Amino acid sequence: MNSSIIRIAALAGDGIGPEVMREAFKVLETVRKKYQLKLEVTEAPVGWAGIDAAGKALPDATLDLCRRSDAILFGSVGLPDRDPTLAKEERPERAALLRIRKEFGLFANLRPVQLPKVLAYACPLRPERQGDGIDILVVRELTGGMYFGQPKKTEEIPGGHRAIDTMVYTTPEIERITQVAFQAARLRRKKVTSIDKANVLENGVLWRDVVSRIGREYPDITLEHMFVDNGAMQLMLRPTQFDVMLCENMFGDILSDEAAALAGSLGMLPSASLGATTAGRTFGFYEPAGGTAPDIAGKNLANPIAQILSVALLFRYSFGLTDAATAIEAAVGKVIVAGLRTGDIFNPADPVARKVGTREMGDAIVAAI
Ligand code: IPM
Ligand code: MG
Repeated sequence: MNSSIIRIAALAGDGIGPEVMREAFKVLETVRKKYQLKLEVTEAPVGWAGIDAAGKALPDATLDLCRRSDAILFGSVGLPDRDPTLAKEERPERAALLRIRKEFGLFANLRPVQLPKVLAYACPLRPERQGDGIDILVVRELTGGMYFGQPKKTEEIPGGHRAIDTMVYTTPEIERITQVAFQAARLRRKKVTSIDKANVLENGVLWRDVVSRIGREYPDITLEHMFVDNGAMQLMLRPTQFDVMLCENMFGDILSDEAAALAGSLGMLPSASLGATTAGRTFGFYEPAGGTAPDIAGKNLANPIAQILSVALLFRYSFGLTDAATAIEAAVGKVIVAGLRTGDIFNPADPVARKVGTREMGDAIVAAI
């Protein structure tokens, strides 16, 4: 694998995207040298940057680049205050992000949430609820459910409008994401909690049936079912009970933000969105869990760790380069233990903590690799 060229499309996007991507590039370059990889990283505009450069949130040239690449390293898109007159279908969230998910069949979204012990103060829960630390993997179905189901429209009716979104899942769609969840659990603490609303939704009943059936193929994994409302509550009450949380698209969207809050800062969390595996390679899309954070953009304040850890996931999931991935993750762990903190994770009461900017954090991680 090390001998073949790895083509990465780098789409930094808007807000803090470009500055955290710059730090990720330093890491890519360091890892390239250390492991003598043949990396080809090509940048292209997306989001409002795409609209400014080529009139579209996902310019044709950017989409072409993605098609020619093995993986996409993504920053973030969307600036809520920019041009409210732009139609919702053309806004970056739908026209770039959702479009890429569908276009590349990225059905499996992995969102690891980890609260390292040294950052316990950043977690909003009391210490006794944090147990020995929080370590959850949210596995979110990403190309089905209410996000994409048809019909999806708003129509006029006497007295106003009627808005329709449709929740649809088929057996194969549930089967493939369930397989991803169980396989991930095998490499972790061997427990899957499947989230649904089987007490109300037809989708929930089918979800639970299919997950239970697939679960029987994995006798080594403990399977638990939980209604989504209870899941939201349990995350606050006893988050340490969760290992892998398996969710459909919308529930996963909501619960992954809730779980992320436990890690203290969105600035720490990477994510991977994976398509089908063909010939040993998995096309993947890697992005920080957080957004564009326009309020701190361009000020050297953003935490680059989520973007840098996304590079680690890219090496692990798309290319099986476990050593490179582990080296990046270990380097991040080292600088955190050494006390380097961007503003989002800074605690003035912590004697080892030293406040640093985006660039300094990136440099320290590079030095630790
Ligand atoms: C996410 C985001 C997106 C989603 C938005 C920006 C469309 O919230 O990736 O979780 O809802 O999927
Ligand atoms: Mg979300």
